[in-house]
Amino acid sequence: MCEKCKGNYYITTPIYYPSAKLHIGHAYCTVATDTMARFKRLQGYDVMFLTGTDEHGQKIEDKAKEAGVTPQQFVDNIVTGEKGVLDLWKLMNISYDRFIRTTDDYHVSAIQKIFKKMYENGDIYKGKYTGKYCKPCESFWTESQLVDGKCPDCGREVQDAEEEAYFFRLSKYADRVQDLLENTDFLEPRSRVSEMVNNFIKPGLEDLCVSRTSFTWGVPVDFDPGHVVYVWIDALFNYMTALGFENDKYQDLDKFWPADVHFIGKEIVRFHSIIWPAMLMSLNLPLPKKVYGHGWLLLDGGKMSKSKGNVVDPYVLSQRFGVDALRFFLLRSFPFGSDGNFSNELLINTINVDLANDLGNLVSRTVAMAQKYFGEHLPAEQLADEEKDAELIAMVSGLRDVYEAQMEKYAFQNALAEVFKVISRANKYIDENAPWVLAKSEENKPRLARVLYNLLETVRICGGLLSPFMPDTAAEIGKRLGGAAMDWDSLKVFGTLAADVATVAGNPLFPRIDLEKELAALEELHKASAEPQEDPLPEPLPEITFDQFEKVEMTVVKVLACEKVKKSDKLLKFTLDDGTKEPRQILSGIAKYYQPEELVGKTLVAVTNLAPRKMMGQMSCGMLLSAERGDKLNLVMLSDNIPAGSRLV
Ligand code: MSP
Repeated sequence: MCEKCKGNYYITTPIYYPSAKLHIGHAYCTVATDTMARFKRLQGYDVMFLTGTDEHGQKIEDKAKEAGVTPQQFVDNIVTGEKGVLDLWKLMNISYDRFIRTTDDYHVSAIQKIFKKMYENGDIYKGKYTGKYCKPCESFWTESQLVDGKCPDCGREVQDAEEEAYFFRLSKYADRVQDLLENTDFLEPRSRVSEMVNNFIKPGLEDLCVSRTSFTWGVPVDFDPGHVVYVWIDALFNYMTALGFENDKYQDLDKFWPADVHFIGKEIVRFHSIIWPAMLMSLNLPLPKKVYGHGWLLLDGGKMSKSKGNVVDPYVLSQRFGVDALRFFLLRSFPFGSDGNFSNELLINTINVDLANDLGNLVSRTVAMAQKYFGEHLPAEQLADEEKDAELIAMVSGLRDVYEAQMEKYAFQNALAEVFKVISRANKYIDENAPWVLAKSEENKPRLARVLYNLLETVRICGGLLSPFMPDTAAEIGKRLGGAAMDWDSLKVFGTLAADVATVAGNPLFPRIDLEKELAALEELHKASAEPQEDPLPEPLPEITFDQFEKVEMTVVKVLACEKVKKSDKLLKFTLDDGTKEPRQILSGIAKYYQPEELVGKTLVAVTNLAPRKMMGQMSCGMLLSAERGDKLNLVMLSDNIPAGSRLV
């Protein structure tokens, strides 16, 4: 620890899946973490703020395949490419100290060592996995954990899975983890504790499957080729490998571990409050001091998605409203521990009321009056009026402590509410003291100077306390007060500014936004971004000879019956009349595009000399012809007067 520092402080965000563009919900946690990190630096701590990307797993492998690139190229593009994760954090003024990518070599080899250690100490063993797998969440579930047969985290369909796999003895740590959750402040908010204990621990904590063989994009288990380490083991240990655990790249483990807090979203609390401590217990490592599971930003009460009429792209929002306004809005409008409903209207109203009206006006009016009545410097000769000044000064002097108490509880919204109480009080103080009336007579000038001084001091202290939330705005406020002190100690002391403080005029900090016009503009933007893009033409195939073409048998078929294939959301099973006496069965992955009943009786075209193959345990003898482009698919249909069995020529 450095001599002047208050201590070390280690805070982390979840590392992001670079499987899609980040939306404002993703930015929420990182902005909160950044605010906390800046607050701790302001207090005088030596801070390590870690963020990064979680780049392995089947989802990434699949997406890369879809995009026709390697998984590494795919993640590189989303992380380091234009408007990628790194660009976004830069834009949003995220002051991280370290950025980890789970594909970094030092992390990969550290994960291999960690996995081996747990294997050698007997907490990882080889077994057979049968169960359910949720692909989007990369999570394994037992039958009893499913909710209505679906993934309990995201509510989506799960798939059957069976394979040889390694398991972690999670069950062995059930009692210790339960004790940790129930009898310490490890997990907050407390409401999440009962959810974990009742839903996951009490029904019986089963051992966790921690390796996969069905895909390759992961950290290889070095002592058993073919297995890759379960992505959550790989991901969770980032918090330690990024400090140098089991690698030589960094040497900060002693200084910063255990972490002071992991900020995470509510849907990944299970991983952080059950699996993570259990693995650390297995390795006899100190546990993080706290895990805080924040709420979600919702759209119309549901998940963020592009289709819901609001612009949620943090790039667009920052561009239109400014980064500080956006950062402020996220932490001012929603209690951190609970869900909140995001809307563009709420964003604009918050900017207008809090930033343009209350804060912006206070700063503009105060500085403008100081300049108008006294020029660059306030006069040092000032006249206090204890009765009229007492309430404001008391509030401002006490502000740092009440703000700090809220910040220590991660109650960002309450901390901001305390600051804005003072800002409102200061605006009222202007009206009570009517500087424009005092300015009319020369003898009132010392009183006028004192009124303006009190206001400038209020602006300084509020500006300083807002700096973790709005770093650029705080710096601008400091500039307007002639480079005023905004360090932690000075934010407690009313009267820090020199009496003859110099002020600097400037434009309004937050211009008022015309709500109706802006909403209409955003609506247009939303429509434009939602407009379907023309999908590129498929690549031409190599030429074939006429002989080759003639070998494909294309036959007219009539649909006798059609039904969905159980346990598959893609496949339809067709029973077809192909002109022979025997009905022909074909499975086709078109359930997304057609209802089975609408196809019965239709005349279609099938390739009938294709080698039969098994899909989901059923035979498929041929292939129905269809045309596909982007998200559209049309079966090739003929008019009914052509009999089944006719050949296409
Ligand atoms: N890769 C894992 C985390 C591994 S940490 C060892 C992951 N990544 S994620 O990209 O899917 O999500 C990152 C974070 O964004 C999570 O904490 C998640 O809760 C948060 N959010 C995603 N959508 C959100 C909202 N709509 N609102 C608030 N936070 C949300 O999970």
